[in-house]
Amino acid sequence: MAMIALKAPDINVTVVDMNAARIAAWNSDTLPVYEPGLDDVVKERRGKNLFFSTDVTGNIKDADIIFVAVNTPTKTYGVGAGRAADLRYIESVARTIAEHSKSPKIIVEKSTIPVKTAEAIKEILNANSNGMRFSVLSNPEFLAEGTAMADLLNPDRVLIGGEHTPEGEKALQTLVDVYARWVPRERIITTNLWSSELSKLVANAFLAQRISSINSISALCEATGADVDEVAHAIGKDSRIGPKFLKASVGFGGSCFQKDILNLVYLCQHFGLPEVAAYWESVVTMNDYQKRRFASKIVRTLFNTVADKKIAVLGFAFKKDTNDTRESAAINVCRDLLAEHANVSVYDPKVPGEEILKDVLGKDNTNPRLTVAKSAYEACAGAHAIAVVTEWDEFKTLDFQKIYEGMPKPAFIFDGRNILDLEKLAKIGFRAHGIGKCGTSV
Ligand SMILES: NC(=O)c1ccc[n+]([C@@H]2O[C@H](COP(=O)([O-])OP(=O)(O)OC[C@H]3O[C@@H](n4cnc5c(N)ncnc54)[C@H](O)[C@@H]3O)[C@@H](O)[C@H]2O)c1
Repeated sequence: MAMIALKAPDINVTVVDMNAARIAAWNSDTLPVYEPGLDDVVKERRGKNLFFSTDVTGNIKDADIIFVAVNTPTKTYGVGAGRAADLRYIESVARTIAEHSKSPKIIVEKSTIPVKTAEAIKEILNANSNGMRFSVLSNPEFLAEGTAMADLLNPDRVLIGGEHTPEGEKALQTLVDVYARWVPRERIITTNLWSSELSKLVANAFLAQRISSINSISALCEATGADVDEVAHAIGKDSRIGPKFLKASVGFGGSCFQKDILNLVYLCQHFGLPEVAAYWESVVTMNDYQKRRFASKIVRTLFNTVADKKIAVLGFAFKKDTNDTRESAAINVCRDLLAEHANVSVYDPKVPGEEILKDVLGKDNTNPRLTVAKSAYEACAGAHAIAVVTEWDEFKTLDFQKIYEGMPKPAFIFDGRNILDLEKLAKIGFRAHGIGKCGTSV
């Protein structure tokens, strides 16, 4: 919405959320989301044509186009628990829109939702609209956290799905015209509603599948002496495969991949395709394995016990340049280490300490073994081992000589993102391990 406000100064954009604390933060100097470049755009447009408000119903009344971007978490109860998307927030928004609209509107699904949800939204709207017409479009968001502003400024494509009726075509054209202010027309793809909804789930499933594929090979590399970065480089040079999403790691996280794949799995099961469901589910199974494998390798390497040993966990966000921790591999790594009675000290440059404690231990729980450090140096002081879990740039330039001197020997380092120079660390004296690489020490 900030990008639309920037590129279309004649369009008034109001972001509404029922979470008052979030809206207050959007109106303050400290935005609730850390995203490189976002601060500048919000500060430039806020109060001009970009507004943040908790007045959901008042702004529904005033709007011509409503983007629905509420959360669609995985269901935790009843039919489809653990797989299907929980659509209650979507349904509640549709009912609120129907109730408070006094003029026809275009409703744009921005949330990632399963195929045919637009139909449900349309049904709810039209059953409650007192004869008013609503057009429903699907406009899935392909941005990645951490590079969101660049992705929005220069997207590979914008996808808009709509109905093939005169009304649907008109609504579609209205939204195309918004994006066409800065996105070349040939990159704006229009499809039918269902193709658009399904394409988002499939894009995420394909990306996650590549990560799980290379991660599965990382385990084989460690067993055989191959180097996973060399393998990824060699196969990535094949233009049919390409280099992106081939970086082996401690496992993918984030709010989207796992949720969207499980959604796809649920759809396949629903439509009686168990083999297809099992195929995509294995992408998530491989990711769970990779997260467990990292923590168990730390335990195994530290002579099969980490009890009462200090382990420094560097990085907690699910990837660099974001403060988002949803499904972060760090959560599993910390829990597995705590289960082995390690003393875990976590440092992340952007994630607040209370968030780290809540994510690992759950709300209201405490465990004196888990602490949060104010710097990487503080986390590493006196640690038996260091685990790099997020690929923050600042970890690449730490003074590892100084860190080494403050650690009991042998000093171990496990690079879960393959961002460090293992040879150099080995020369300092570390027992250095990467993902999909043989242990290095001299
Ligand atoms: N995070 C990403 O990178 C990303 C990328 C592409 C697509 N998506 C999709 O976008 C959707 C939202 O993701 P998110 O990460 O922003 O989730 P989020 O949980 O951070 O934000 C959702 C917001 O919706 C608000 N909300 C819920 N119901 C409401 C209602 N009835 N009225 C007003 N506000 C309401 C919540 O208070 C919350 O602040 C999801 O479907 C997700 O899959 C996210």
